[in-house]
Amino acid sequence: MPGTTLRLFFALWPDSATRAAVGALARDVAREAGGRAVAADNVHLTLAFLGEQRAEIVPKLCASAAGLAFSAFRLLLDEVGCWRNTGIAWLGASETPAELGVLQSGLARTLAGLGIALDPRPFSPHLTLARRIATKVQRRLPQPVVWNVVSFALVASELDRSGSRYRVVDVWPRGGSA
Ligand code: 2AM
Repeated sequence: MPGTTLRLFFALWPDSATRAAVGALARDVAREAGGRAVAADNVHLTLAFLGEQRAEIVPKLCASAAGLAFSAFRLLLDEVGCWRNTGIAWLGASETPAELGVLQSGLARTLAGLGIALDPRPFSPHLTLARRIATKVQRRLPQPVVWNVVSFALVASELDRSGSRYRVVDVWPRGGSA
């Protein structure tokens, strides 16, 4: 429909085992820190937040994403931390694989070419575990969550009665599972 907009972002979208592990951790951390856990179905790592965009741009975004070089990599999620100013508890990796940086910067360049500017702050890879936390959380996990990243996705954030839900629009490399 002309004039329709979508709230879009590119993200790493976990496989079901990673999703279940991170979802369980989110519930633990929310209990511990007094916040609201992110539902397992919504767990992701944002690569680039595009905000509201005209729906007509989606085919261009998909063509650009399909043209990006992507190498699979392993992400060891071993750190739980928080940002007190925004009340967010997150899961992160003490070591960022080079492939993740390459993918994110490639996306940022491609989007800039389409006239889409991203947040100028440095990329801070994280999976949000809980929102509105009341107390600080910070720890190294004794056993990291091991995530074999085989694809990345374009995702639309949609509002329904229960809040935000995310819809995977497409995944690359094509045929890679999200
Ligand atoms: P967050 O997990 O730290 O909240 C969809 O909203 C995704 O885009 C979320 O993962 C969110 O990060 C991320 N994001 C980045 N910048 C954003 C912004 N300005 N507004 C909303 N979400 C943003």
